[in-house]
Amino acid sequence: MYANASGPVLPGPNDPCWCGSGRKYKKCHQPKDRLALLQGGTAGPQVANGSAPVRPGVVSPMRQVPSHIVRPDYAESGRPQSKRQQPLVKDAATIARMRKAAQAARRVLNTTLAAVRPGITTDELDAIAHETYLREGGYPSTLNYHGYPKSICTSVNEVICHGIPDSRPLNDGDIVNVDVTIFLDGVHGDCSETVPVGTVDAESLALIEATRSCLMAGIGSVRPGSRICDIGRAIEEVAAVSNYGVVRAFVGHGIGEVFHMDPQVPHYYDRNASTVLQPGMTFTIEPMINLGTWRHRSWPDNWTAVTADGKRSAQFEHTLLVTEKGVEILTLDPSLPQPFPH
Ligand code: MF3
Ligand code: CO
Ligand code: CO
Repeated sequence: MYANASGPVLPGPNDPCWCGSGRKYKKCHQPKDRLALLQGGTAGPQVANGSAPVRPGVVSPMRQVPSHIVRPDYAESGRPQSKRQQPLVKDAATIARMRKAAQAARRVLNTTLAAVRPGITTDELDAIAHETYLREGGYPSTLNYHGYPKSICTSVNEVICHGIPDSRPLNDGDIVNVDVTIFLDGVHGDCSETVPVGTVDAESLALIEATRSCLMAGIGSVRPGSRICDIGRAIEEVAAVSNYGVVRAFVGHGIGEVFHMDPQVPHYYDRNASTVLQPGMTFTIEPMINLGTWRHRSWPDNWTAVTADGKRSAQFEHTLLVTEKGVEILTLDPSLPQPFPH
């Protein structure tokens, strides 16, 4: 180990990189850090208010789902049957089922978020969510999805998405995204929010509120005749005001009887996302917005995605229905009015 003139202790060349990628420092961030130091900058994780980088904890055994709860096709094998290219426009009966699943997802999310406080572990949040899915009569869609081991995703601080609940207690000053997906009556409902843990610095709070605004701006572009690429354009416009990074590697997705299906919904402007929206389409918008770079690294668990510079990231997600007049937010909290023509 050797010291970085301006602060954090950096790993030795053959030690694991500070970013958590599991690669040797010399094969990962060391060349970049050297350049930064030569240019008089700082090296190592650029974390807010002195919080240490998030590190993997212990993951508890998979939670069980009683046999009376109907499971998606991948629940045993871990492999979903590939049927991404189902009809994008859902019929009225499917839409009715999706409204119910989406509202159940919202209740699971609200119950789980209400338990967030300093000292609780992300595994304890997973346990609360798991029991709530079962009480709703639904299956936690992420459980064994491509082998994912838990019932929610919990993404803390610089974790962009797909954080696995584990033994790490939340600290005062953290931010955490909780992402809930339920499989109920044959369809999925998917939503997430990022919340502060205890007292959080102003920069992180601003990131959280801007990310919520990015999601709402994206949703506001949705109406029959608009295109998928209009969503990313609207999100980028809001993020650019604060110079935030918009994550490109993870996108929103069509949803229904299949968890992740077409269309893909980029959160940046992608001219190739030319699908024209029609009433009856259902998809998520779930922007991940970073204080710094949009680039990410993956942890060796092959799930957890973290920002490449160690700065914080926030995310909000809704499941949406394109309607004749505009858009209905299926996962909206029932105490709130639909914000757009629907
Ligand atoms: N809920 C996430 C989404 O918004 C998906 C998580 S898949 C998992 O699409 F396997 F990582 F859990
Ligand atoms: Co989600
Ligand atoms: Co999603």
